[in-house]
Amino acid sequence: MEKKTDHIPDHVAIIMDGNGRWAKARGLPRTEGHRVGANRVREIVYACLDLGISYLTIYAFSKENWKRPKREVSGIMKLAEIFFRGFFNELKRKGVHFVHLGDKEGLSPSILKIINTMERNNAEEKKLVLSVAFNYSGRSELTGVLRRISELSANGEIEPDHITEQLISNYLYTRELPDPDLLIRTGGESRVSNFLLWQIAYTEIWITDTLWPDFTKETLLQAVDDYKRRERRFGGL
Ligand code: FPP
Repeated sequence: MEKKTDHIPDHVAIIMDGNGRWAKARGLPRTEGHRVGANRVREIVYACLDLGISYLTIYAFSKENWKRPKREVSGIMKLAEIFFRGFFNELKRKGVHFVHLGDKEGLSPSILKIINTMERNNAEEKKLVLSVAFNYSGRSELTGVLRRISELSANGEIEPDHITEQLISNYLYTRELPDPDLLIRTGGESRVSNFLLWQIAYTEIWITDTLWPDFTKETLLQAVDDYKRRERRFGGL
């Protein structure tokens, strides 16, 4: 008999791509695509709560995104701040627990302030853990782990055979999260773009041409239905 996953994914991660193309197709500035995209995030958080998905992780700003024009970067920063300030309390009331993934260094004092406030006053109930990768890069995350482990080793606190997959996972930004079951990429590109490189070793990937501002609960359901039909073997038979 064919073995199918047959249940919804516990942890969904999303690479929200296509905001720029969505705006361009409408003759709008790219930032307008990001603005509509930020509203979609709220909608998808509610969809995950409805569906009973426990973890949602979104890629909102990569370390590489600093290379974009200044105006676009500051637009994204402003939108993120509006999103965090506008929805944190509302989401907290619904049992959404916030996690920041990424480097705090390099972020502006105003963004840092709201991220620190959210972390300090977080929802204790965890109906949904919303992790926002912001100033995140997978290679930089792994580099940080190697630095930390080499410090421990230099101080004589660990031996080489203490270095296990579990130890590495414990030093990642995602230490509180299980690995993603399903990675969705919108906007049609087939790449992982430095997102959760360690964590997606056995993650099922679903790519849609739908641009992020057009992504709805129905699109999420399509991805979840497709996931349910997958057979996950984790390297076994
Ligand atoms: C990718 O589209 C999207 C981003 C780099 C930014 C995503 C940011 C938001 C949705 C706003 C911030 C929201 C929160 C909740 C923190 P792209 O610009 O690469 O699109 P393109 O491939 O069409 O150019």
